[in-house]
Amino acid sequence: MQLPNWDKPLEAAHRAALDFLHGLPDRPVRASSSPSDLLASLGSDLPEEGMDTADVIESLAAAADPGLVATQSGRFFGFVIGGATPPGIAAEWLAATWDQNAGLALLAPAAAAVEQIAGRWLIELLGLPTDASVGFVTGAQMANFTALAAARNSVLRQVGWDVEIAGLTRSPHIRVLAGRDHHDTIDRALRFLGLGTACLIPVNSDDSGRMLVDDLARKLAEREAPTIVCAQAGGVNGGSIDPLEKIIEIAHHHSAWVHVDGAFGLWAAATPSMRHLLAGVEGADSWATDAHKWLNVSYDSGLVFCAHPETHRAAMQVRAAYLSHADSSMRDPMDYNPEFSRRARGFAVYATLRALGRSGVVDLVDRCCALAERFAELLSGADGVQLLVPVTLNQVLVRFRAAAGDAQPGSGSLPGSRR
Ligand SMILES: Cc1ncc(COP(=O)(O)O)c(C=O)c1O
Repeated sequence: MQLPNWDKPLEAAHRAALDFLHGLPDRPVRASSSPSDLLASLGSDLPEEGMDTADVIESLAAAADPGLVATQSGRFFGFVIGGATPPGIAAEWLAATWDQNAGLALLAPAAAAVEQIAGRWLIELLGLPTDASVGFVTGAQMANFTALAAARNSVLRQVGWDVEIAGLTRSPHIRVLAGRDHHDTIDRALRFLGLGTACLIPVNSDDSGRMLVDDLARKLAEREAPTIVCAQAGGVNGGSIDPLEKIIEIAHHHSAWVHVDGAFGLWAAATPSMRHLLAGVEGADSWATDAHKWLNVSYDSGLVFCAHPETHRAAMQVRAAYLSHADSSMRDPMDYNPEFSRRARGFAVYATLRALGRSGVVDLVDRCCALAERFAELLSGADGVQLLVPVTLNQVLVRFRAAAGDAQPGSGSLPGSRR
């Protein structure tokens, strides 16, 4: 048997990776090439003949470099984007090398074990119910989707409708209440789930984007229906956190399922200094968050948790004659994920949590929030800069005014389509 030459391409990748990482403090944050230049330098006709693998890697690294955005640089301040850290990157390299299909424990026992352990650590760290289930998905989009699939099935089952079998065509109507500042991935998940965005009832929010509990209570009381309430821990614009305890209490009084989209904000629950902002979060029915945001694990790495493991599993589980399952001591990851075959993304989460420990995560969140406060303080003292909302967590939302004045009406409120 002829063995592939692993060394040269992996050495080339190693060199290119270290060049990139060591260059982060100095390289421009944004891409320096235009899209058309990139297409020209990376593309050509489909090659008829192959090329030496190390040369492929070297030329890929060289041609891609001007099209890379240095999102993990300390000078990148856009969007809600995480970085990449040594334990996460190194574990990702191993995950790619080991090439485990993490769907099935029998096929990937180490990947399944790591997800089981890291899942338990995360539940403890975030203060969620100890018996919550967890799925390692691509991002908060799929975490929201997975949780809302479980929610949809549960609220319909309460009224005697098995949507898994009967589908949605003649099902009772579901209503979904969400703050006006909810993230667009909620709408997208509702589209994927066949509920449609028309089922969304927007709940008013205050100037910082927090859902108004009185409006929620009024809208919930308008009529009885299978209901899902989507709360948010960390709005994408200003980091606002909904009053979770009250929302959960009122929603549960109306037998609604409460889902918390905490793509980054849920991490604040890990630190004693911020935990009060998420008081009551553990009372929700499901939660979405990302490891690729605040935990700084490389993309893609999202997490979904559910307080009702049976419901979570029922919404995702799949069985096929050819699939063998491990004994009950090991969970099958595919029972908690919308994916079937997939990358073993738990290794990087495990390695990152192991490298940081609880105190490292607390320090990461606290330091980031303290720096955001400082950043806001310094920026708001500068000419022509207006702080749009007080800093809640790690986000600073400012407007830069032109010297001639900002002609836009409505300054002082959050940007975005919902406001
Ligand atoms: C509150 C919130 N929910 C969901 C998402 C979507 O997350 P992802 O891009 O990981 O799917 C984001 C992204 O920034 C977010 O801030």
